[in-house]
Amino acid sequence: MSEFIITSHGPFEQWTINGEARRNALSRAMVMELEANVARVSADRSVRVVVLTGAGDKAFCAGADLKERTTMSPPEVSAFLSSMRKIFRSLELSDCVFIAFLNGAAFGGGTELSLCCDLRVIAASAEMGLTEVKLGIIPGAGGTQRLPRLVGKGVAKELILTGRRVPAAEAVSLGLANRVGTLEDALTLAKSICENAPIAVSAAKHAIDEGAHLELDAALLLEQEKYALTLGTEDRLEGLKAFAEKRTPVYKGR
Ligand code: COA
Repeated sequence: MSEFIITSHGPFEQWTINGEARRNALSRAMVMELEANVARVSADRSVRVVVLTGAGDKAFCAGADLKERTTMSPPEVSAFLSSMRKIFRSLELSDCVFIAFLNGAAFGGGTELSLCCDLRVIAASAEMGLTEVKLGIIPGAGGTQRLPRLVGKGVAKELILTGRRVPAAEAVSLGLANRVGTLEDALTLAKSICENAPIAVSAAKHAIDEGAHLELDAALLLEQEKYALTLGTEDRLEGLKAFAEKRTPVYKGR
C-alpha cells in the first residue's frame, strides 16, 4: 500500500498521508516515501505547489509512529531522526511551495512536518502541539529550532515545555498557522500561487527563508541576488507586456 495518495491538479498536487488507522503517524516507510516524493517534485519544475494533508478528519499526523518506535533501539531511533531532519529540510530547500492543510490533530512530528512547509491552513476543529516532553523526549525533527524562529522564543518555550495542545484559532493568533480554513481554501491558495511567475515565486521563497536570520545589510544583498534571478527571464517581460495589453499574463517558468 502506498503511503501517500497523490492527486494531480495540473500545476499543483495534493499529497494525502494514507494512514488513517494509525492517525497518519510518521512510520519509516512513510518518511522514505515522503523523501522520494519531495525529490521528484524538486527535480520536476512542472509541479509548483504541493498541498500536504492527512487521510480522514481526526489527524493530519499524530507524530512519530509510537508502535513502531517501541521496536527500535536507541541507535536506530537516532539514525531515523537524522534522516527525518534531512528529509524535512528538503521541503524548505525545494523550489516547490509546500502548504500543509492540517485536517486534524498535528502533534510532535506532525507539527514539525507542518513547520517545514511554507504555509499552514488549519481546520477549525484541529489542534497542533509539540507534545514530546510528555513522552520523556524533546522535539527531534527541528521543532526546537523552527518553532522559535516562527513564533519567537517566549511562545515556543511555553508550548514546548508544557507540551500543550493548541486549538486552531489560538494557533493562528500565535502565528503557528496562517489561517483557519478548509481543504478547498488550501487548494485555492495553491492555485493562486500557481498563477504567478514560477521563478519569481521560488526566488521569493528562498529570499525570505535564507534572509530571515541574516543581519539586515546582508539580507538586503541576498534580496538583490534573488531579484537578479528574475531580471533576465521571459516571464518578467511577459508580466510587463500583459500589463500594457491589459490581459492576464501567461507564465512559462523561463
Ligand atoms: N503512533 C502510532 N499509532 C497511533 C499514534 C501514533 N503517534 N497516534 C494514534 N495512533 C493509533 C492508536 O494507537 C489507535 O490504534 P488502535 O486502533 O490500534 O488502538 C488509533 O491510532 C486511533 O487512535 P485514537 O487515540 O483512538 O484516535 P483519536 O482519533 O481518538 O485521537 C489523536 C487521535 C491523534 C488525538 C490521538 O491518537 C493521540 O493523541 N495520539 C498520540 C499523539 C502523540 O502523542 N504524538 C506525539 C508523538 S512524539
